[in-house]
Amino acid sequence: MINTQKPKIWYGGDYNPDQWEKPIWDEDLRMFKLAGIDVATLNVFAWANNQPDEDTYEFGWLDEMMDKLHADGVGVCLATSTAAHPAWMARKYPDVLRVDFDGRKRKFGGRHNSCPNSPTYREYSVKMAEKLAERYKNHPALLIWHVSNEYGGYCYCDNCAAAFRTWLQERYGSIDVVNKVWNTSFWGHTFYDWDDIVPPSSLSEEWRGWNGRTATNFQGISLDYCRFQSDSLLDCYKLEYDALKKQTPDIPITTNLMGAYKELDYHKWAKHLDVVSWDNYPSLDTPYSYTAMMHDLMRGLKGGQPFMLMEQTPSQQNWQPYNSLKRPGVMRLWSYQAVARGADTVMFFQLRRSVGACEKYHGAVIEHVGHENTRVFQECADLGSELYKLGDSLLDARVKAKVAILFDWDNWWAVELSSGPTIALKYVEELHKYYSAFYQANIAVDVVGVDAELSGYDFVLAPVMYMVKPGVAERIERYVENGGTFLTTYFSGIVDENDRVTLGGYPGELRKLLGIWSEEIDALLPTQSNRIMLKSSIDGLEQSYNCGMLCDLIHSEGAEVIAEYGEDFYKGMPALTVNKFGAGEAWYVATSPDVTFLQDWLPKLCAARGIEPLVTSAPDGVETTLREKDGVSYLFVLNHNPGASVVSLGQQSGVDLLSDKQLSGNVELAGRDLWIIKLEA
Ligand code: GLA
Ligand code: ZN
Repeated sequence: MINTQKPKIWYGGDYNPDQWEKPIWDEDLRMFKLAGIDVATLNVFAWANNQPDEDTYEFGWLDEMMDKLHADGVGVCLATSTAAHPAWMARKYPDVLRVDFDGRKRKFGGRHNSCPNSPTYREYSVKMAEKLAERYKNHPALLIWHVSNEYGGYCYCDNCAAAFRTWLQERYGSIDVVNKVWNTSFWGHTFYDWDDIVPPSSLSEEWRGWNGRTATNFQGISLDYCRFQSDSLLDCYKLEYDALKKQTPDIPITTNLMGAYKELDYHKWAKHLDVVSWDNYPSLDTPYSYTAMMHDLMRGLKGGQPFMLMEQTPSQQNWQPYNSLKRPGVMRLWSYQAVARGADTVMFFQLRRSVGACEKYHGAVIEHVGHENTRVFQECADLGSELYKLGDSLLDARVKAKVAILFDWDNWWAVELSSGPTIALKYVEELHKYYSAFYQANIAVDVVGVDAELSGYDFVLAPVMYMVKPGVAERIERYVENGGTFLTTYFSGIVDENDRVTLGGYPGELRKLLGIWSEEIDALLPTQSNRIMLKSSIDGLEQSYNCGMLCDLIHSEGAEVIAEYGEDFYKGMPALTVNKFGAGEAWYVATSPDVTFLQDWLPKLCAARGIEPLVTSAPDGVETTLREKDGVSYLFVLNHNPGASVVSLGQQSGVDLLSDKQLSGNVELAGRDLWIIKLEA
């Protein structure tokens, strides 16, 4: 449990009373009560208020608000306020200001804007964390610490350059090793001295390439800069973490993550979070399966431990191009989608809509009209009372999956820093294609890192595992030898952790396991496609499917060829293979197939391995998950469709925790409604 002081699904969100006059505060508290809000995230952007100059700290407003909230039974998720530095700091200590990708020194403005290697930022952010911990360590409202906010962005300043050199010295020991792993003899880039190394920005090795994606001359240096900047921001987080822990060893600490946020390696970060929390902002046209995958990714960061939904909007965003309202019922449904996938909190940005600046049109529980008679408030209040009713029944319940998809940030960076073979390849999109086929088939999936324990899974997929990090190939081999099923695709097994090609034939370290050799890689134009032709028919599958983007030209070295290409000069070469390896098997999908192929095929592979769907059948738009606790299973069935859907529960039956109805057989679920069925054993 995140904090046993509040044994229920926490309900509340970002609250900024520091932006308001006091008479409003009492109104807020009155309405929080009406909405069933029991957690408020305070102090996210209040650094300027709390520390008006170098030597003065003023927490009067926070003292008062913490007390008031506590008196009303509202716990506090207390932020450290270090996500936007105060103006005096920028004026006096310009080292806090970042230098951007184009080498421009930033001026005061924005947020999430401090250089992570600024001595000033580090000193004052830690001091602030210490002050807060000292002051509130015994405050009964304090439930959890929220360090900074949505860490992100890179800096290219001289302090970062110097810290990068130190980071490289620690990682590689000598400049000779750096020259070797970055292959700097290419284009005469040999470094003689550590000081020759500068951050890869648009002033040196990088530029904005096709599709606005960062392009580079040297993947090795760019990759290491991503790692280094992620580590630098993580160091800032860790410094605050340590300062807080020292004084409040029993209070959990988190920082809010952002799903598949490219710039930070969240697998590394999660090791230093007591609980993962994240901010979920899908737009009207985000596939439900994509949001589901993000929840699963966040759950996977800490081995399936429940996470916090730290932010979502009750109604609309302000920063998307088209900020649609969540339709009636959707806020509730998406809140439960998070719970269904492992969240133990439902929290919003924000509780009251601000009066000025760029977020004044961002949705909030309390809107500009200022009273509770709004659609949004009523929906929030209804959800609030439902969450009270659920009590602690679901807290700490685990999602169990037999299928895992491997997700790796280093690999993501490397795939998309690659010059060739195609700009069309987007790592997360390819993963989502596979994920969505399981989602549609109601088969639970974990999304985990490449160093996760695999033995508990029956089926492990690593689409586009371009980079094979040390030890990973051996671990996958052992997994397959022991009976596991592994699947990977084109553009896998190509490079090592420094983006150096594994010589001797693709897919490098995975070649033996897969029993194939990939001789060439063809990149297709967006207007071109090829066909995957099954060699013999498989029940329930078409004889052929469209494929494209990349086509590996492979030879079997022992693998059985299941399908071949139907067109072009490589017609008849293998497009889908399986290799028996020990007690298990390893599949290779040599091209990017239409999702229909994966939808038809992957559930069959699962069925053959005894991996069952969670319900017998459910129409498109119905999502299912299972959480387990103390031997009891809770089946979530969510209907994303605006109209009713009939769901076949098969042999399963039980009581819906929300409506108290007994459900079994074929049941109709209303549009945008859901069940949480406590299954009978
Ligand atoms: C992020 C931030 C919040 C707020 C919301 C708006 O998630 O953490 O401070 O800006 O976006 O959607
Ligand atoms: Zn910097």
